[in-house]
Amino acid sequence: MNHFAYKRGALFAEDVPLAEIANAVGTPTYVYSTATLTRHVKVMQQAFGHTPHLVCYSVKANSNLAILRLLHEAGCGFDIVSGGELARVRVAARADTSRVVFAGVGKTADEMAQALDAGILLFNVESEEELLLLDKVAREKGVRAPFGIRVNPHVDARTHRHIATGLKTSKFGVPFEEARALYQRSRRLKGLWARGLDCHIGSQLTDSAPIRAALARVAGLYRALVAQGFALQYLDIGGGLGITYKEETPPSPAEYARVVVEATRGTGATLVLEPGRVVVGNAGVLLTRVLYRKKTPTRSFVIVDAGMNDLIRPALYEAHHEVRPVRRHSRGRTGRVDVVGPICESTDVLAKDRVLAPVRPGDLLAILSAGAYGMSMASNYNSRRRPAEVLVNGDAWRVIRQRELYEDLWRGETP
Ligand code: LLP
Repeated sequence: MNHFAYKRGALFAEDVPLAEIANAVGTPTYVYSTATLTRHVKVMQQAFGHTPHLVCYSVKANSNLAILRLLHEAGCGFDIVSGGELARVRVAARADTSRVVFAGVGKTADEMAQALDAGILLFNVESEEELLLLDKVAREKGVRAPFGIRVNPHVDARTHRHIATGLKTSKFGVPFEEARALYQRSRRLKGLWARGLDCHIGSQLTDSAPIRAALARVAGLYRALVAQGFALQYLDIGGGLGITYKEETPPSPAEYARVVVEATRGTGATLVLEPGRVVVGNAGVLLTRVLYRKKTPTRSFVIVDAGMNDLIRPALYEAHHEVRPVRRHSRGRTGRVDVVGPICESTDVLAKDRVLAPVRPGDLLAILSAGAYGMSMASNYNSRRRPAEVLVNGDAWRVIRQRELYEDLWRGETP
């Protein structure tokens, strides 16, 4: 459920007409709904109800400080993958980094040191060499690094091949069979403290079977490690719960929780959840304005002022995002169009072969479900300034990131 809906033919974010925001801030602009964000977090927290758990929002999905602040205030910890994300969390959560988990196959020694200084909850370690470096960095500081091994449970998450991470061929995690030996090895390393076990099988999961299969394996390993005397406390199950972009029917948070709790029963672990997309995906839209229409012998194009630099998902994953007119009208027959951006690339198609009511230059369109992996993956390609971001709360709204200036484009460069 989200709070983007039509009222008297105009598309609103909560109680604010999107046209009001576009007219004041310009386009392209990402618009997020506070009510949707807080609802999604609450639903997730409630779904896990009495099971000891911690929701660590995955910062990569949308890392705007205002959104991180909101989620911190809603009780979330954070899942990070870089020193930059740690720095953002520090600012947004007013230096409360006690509920941060740190994943990623390529953590540097500097990033490890920063995270140790910040006193994070858990390093999710993805290789033997990383484990040895973490031990060294921690010993140099005279501390013990709390860690879990990210295991690769070798299941097919049945998601887009570009966002599946749990297959045998994946660069992520440690092969399931090798994890035990690493924990054993860590006993002799004085800079380490085995605290958890981690997995993440992929993103935009719409089927609970692979989740169940992966967690059954991982829970078995967790129990075995505890039986061997490791004082583990956290079972980190990663993120990945899917959302509806078009017609997908992902498990609801309640169904997801049922599967997870059942598969991990008897571990006694505090579950760490790392949701990203399910929290922010449908809490954001990308507002864009129509520039031109163009007909070629074979296709009809609607050329808009947002491009693949602003929202790369369609170009990168052939992802589907619904497109809606910000003002509904009846100007005649709907037709099939490609909604394309201004970037000099053939893949700069935001929506392909869509049935859309006729539009005119100056009309506003909303690209839906753009809250996750939208702005956080935006770039300056073609020397375009990245979009502004706006957060709506009831009938109020504010700019939470200004549109970049041309000067921002060459900051740090020397002519
Ligand atoms: N935890 C780990 C270790 C992850 O790698 C990810 C996402 C998450 C949690 C959050 O997953 P979520 O709940 O958002 O599915 N750019 C792609 C998605 C890449 C996901 C990367 N890892 C997209 O736009 O679909």
